[in-house]
Amino acid sequence: MKEKLAKIKEEALKQIAGSDALEKLNEVRVNFLGKKGELTTVLKSMKDVAPEERPKVGQMVNEIRDEIERVLEQAKTQMETKAREAAMKREVIDVTLPAKKNLVGHRHPNRIVLDEVERIFIGMGYEVVEGPEVEYDYYNFEALNIPADHPAKDEQDTFYVTNEILLRTQTSPVQVRTMEKGKLPIRMIAPGRVFRSDEVDATHSPSFHQIEGMIVDKGITFADLKGTLAQFAKELFGEKTKVKFRPHHFPFTEPSAEVDVSCFKCGGEGCRFCKGSGWIEILGCGMVHPKVLKMSGIDPDVYSGFAFGIGLERITLLKYEIDDMRLLYENDVRFLKQF
Ligand code: DAH
Repeated sequence: MKEKLAKIKEEALKQIAGSDALEKLNEVRVNFLGKKGELTTVLKSMKDVAPEERPKVGQMVNEIRDEIERVLEQAKTQMETKAREAAMKREVIDVTLPAKKNLVGHRHPNRIVLDEVERIFIGMGYEVVEGPEVEYDYYNFEALNIPADHPAKDEQDTFYVTNEILLRTQTSPVQVRTMEKGKLPIRMIAPGRVFRSDEVDATHSPSFHQIEGMIVDKGITFADLKGTLAQFAKELFGEKTKVKFRPHHFPFTEPSAEVDVSCFKCGGEGCRFCKGSGWIEILGCGMVHPKVLKMSGIDPDVYSGFAFGIGLERITLLKYEIDDMRLLYENDVRFLKQF
């Protein structure tokens, strides 16, 4: 019996030493210590042992079981330690490697300029409002004193949806929609997309953006218009910027003007940028025509106002010295990243 036990022990230890995986160790445990394992079988055959020997054999079995358990446990711990060390070697993190760059979006150059324009006018007490891009002929033309037979209507090659509905050719209809609400005084700017059936080239696009501006109150004069736009030009293009008003014609303003700013590249000397003139045209404006006020339910004998319309792309191209408008619409990240 003793010999048998010694052999079992020897065999168990040999198998443990030869195990190279946790599953193997488990097999050894089941084979020797399990319910049907070799040691258990020995215990079951105790009845064949002489009674006076039983305590001794029992003690031996216990000692061998404890020994096998201990060695098993030791082997298990060793294997786990080795596995963990191997994993740690495999998963080494080099904290000195450069981090992955997070790609963050950019504001579009048009958006940068519009944000700036909005900031300037909000600072002067203006409200930013919006109007629909699909508009009635009435708001886009009629109510702005551009009747059906007016030549200005031809000039603004219009995309018509139906006879009465069109894609707005200008942001000026937002003037009418704001006046119709009947809340006075008015001090608003209305940025947005406009549409004209133009061929695409370096300076034209069938869809571009304007920023409309309007003030209606008692006692507004052309001097207010000049002061406002002069201040605006200074804030947008720099403190030294001068403005020049040239007489012009728009059906919805009387008198009307086009506004030039002194060239912010050469300061007015004349350069490639201002085509040698020292001045750059930036917007159209004027005093709101009494007929326009009246059509929207405002008494021109009590109220007066001024309005202006800025071409957003025009200013963006100037400010960033971009010489082709198409770059603004292609959304090539390599281009956009520069702003
Ligand atoms: N709507 C005009 C255009 O698209 C621009 C404009 C000129 C707007 C004078 C105005 C203005 O409000 O007073 O050409």
